[in-house]
Amino acid sequence: MLEKIKAIREEISAIIAFSVEEVEDLRIKYISKKGKVSQLFADFKNVPVDQKKEVGQAINDLKNFALDKINQLRENLESKTESDTGIDLTRPGEPMKLGSRHPLSIVKNEIFDIFARIGFIISEGPEIEDDWHVFSALNFPPEHPARDMQDTFFIEKDPDVLLRTHTSSVQIRVMERTQPPIRSLFPGRVFRNEAISARSHCIFHQIEGLYVDENVSFADLKQTLLYFAKELFGENTQIRLRPSFFPFTEPSAEMDVSCSICGGKGCNVCKYTGWLEILGCGMVDPNVLEACNIDSRKYTGFAFGMGIERITMLKYGIKDIRHFFENDVRFLKQFESAL
Ligand code: PHE
Repeated sequence: MLEKIKAIREEISAIIAFSVEEVEDLRIKYISKKGKVSQLFADFKNVPVDQKKEVGQAINDLKNFALDKINQLRENLESKTESDTGIDLTRPGEPMKLGSRHPLSIVKNEIFDIFARIGFIISEGPEIEDDWHVFSALNFPPEHPARDMQDTFFIEKDPDVLLRTHTSSVQIRVMERTQPPIRSLFPGRVFRNEAISARSHCIFHQIEGLYVDENVSFADLKQTLLYFAKELFGENTQIRLRPSFFPFTEPSAEMDVSCSICGGKGCNVCKYTGWLEILGCGMVDPNVLEACNIDSRKYTGFAFGMGIERITMLKYGIKDIRHFFENDVRFLKQFESAL
């Protein structure tokens, strides 16, 4: 009898249950009227008198043990939401905090959108370039200072392998493989050997635009840029074109927009001039078209190029270009709502 009690006790202590219904089945199996433990009480009458005390005690112990075990199983299951560590495993998880877009990406995407509305697509080219695509095909004379070691990061000399100093190299790559009409934007990183300061960095981003077709005129360029400036800086924005020089455009100009901060009245951002310079532009030099096997008697085009950092700094009043590359979360967080 004692052996039997011991066996049932071992059986009970090994029990595990996964649902309240299972616990109920166990209760019925062991301690209901016909259960295994209750059955022992029925057998008790056959126990010899001299063992009755010991066996009776053992059966009572077993019954209490079984009751405790079943209550404990039930409690565990009913409060499964509060596990041992006090963590409610059934609660929905903490949402993962989403990062935000980098301010340069926000402005870049905005520029893409503005030009997409007038039919510009996007093309990209390599950051590691050769002399032809960065300088020669763009009509830079051999002795031009931009080729100088001062400005350009050379990887190899003769033949030159270098980091592109502007995205105009992508103009060449696209014109070499496509005949007009071409209407495309070229975004990308560019590299110049410049001292890093609040205003300039040796790595920055440009977006270049190119439109080549029959009868493209300077008036088209001007109107396209006016549309762009109004879309980016607001309806009241005005533009001004100042004559300038680039080897790959003729005529060339620099474009200013009326200062969006003071509305043109003069403030420290526009250095009290009312104007902010934001891009270089011009009509594609016929030599450039010819270098890419495009008939310069049939086709004309315009191009423009701008620094994304500069535009972003103006748009958000950012005073130091280095913020863009440090990725300090306190800086980046401020653009969460600008998505
Ligand atoms: N590539 C010029 C620069 O980096 C910008 C530019 C592009 C000017 C296209 C005219 C036309 O400064």
